[in-house]
Amino acid sequence: MIKTEALRWFCKRFINSVIMAEAKVKYRTFAKYLSTVMENNKIIPIASDHGGFEMKQYLIGKLEEAGYEVSDYGTHSSASVDYPDMIHPLATAIEKGEYPLGIILCGSGNGAQMTANHHHGVRAALCWNVELARLARCHNDANILALPGRFISNELAWDMVQTFLNTGFEGGRHKKRVEKIEPSEE
Ligand code: RB5
Repeated sequence: MIKTEALRWFCKRFINSVIMAEAKVKYRTFAKYLSTVMENNKIIPIASDHGGFEMKQYLIGKLEEAGYEVSDYGTHSSASVDYPDMIHPLATAIEKGEYPLGIILCGSGNGAQMTANHHHGVRAALCWNVELARLARCHNDANILALPGRFISNELAWDMVQTFLNTGFEGGRHKKRVEKIEPSEE
């Protein structure tokens, strides 16, 4: 996440100069990636089934109040649906690098998390307290927070979301462990 104004200013100048100057392809690709991250790091994709619907609506309100833009992947009512139908599209967007972080919910959080974790590069963490949400970012570089909508309060869910969005990956000894999560293709 790009946080300070000075860094944003530098990145914008870099992006403009590289794209405008039609510089080498490798720098152009990096500049486009940087541009996507900068534009999308305040856009939070969120998805749930009916079991997480009410909490999703609550979180959307809180995120918007806090200045985030929300990309709502559904569901759009409390009518019964199948969680993979909402979770796969969000996880695909994370897999493609369209957003750095996302939030998913279902009744227990399990179905949503299991679905998301079928996507390459997706690390969805099922959390039920603030410390777990912090550790998921810090140690596991989780890019999706999975919440059990029927087992925690809205207030706790919002505390966890804020922690998740504002905690960085620690790297160091955790980096090689995270790199070993995806089996190598042989
Ligand atoms: C829906 O009733 C429920 O099964 C679902 O929200 C979730 O808990 C599945 O893992």
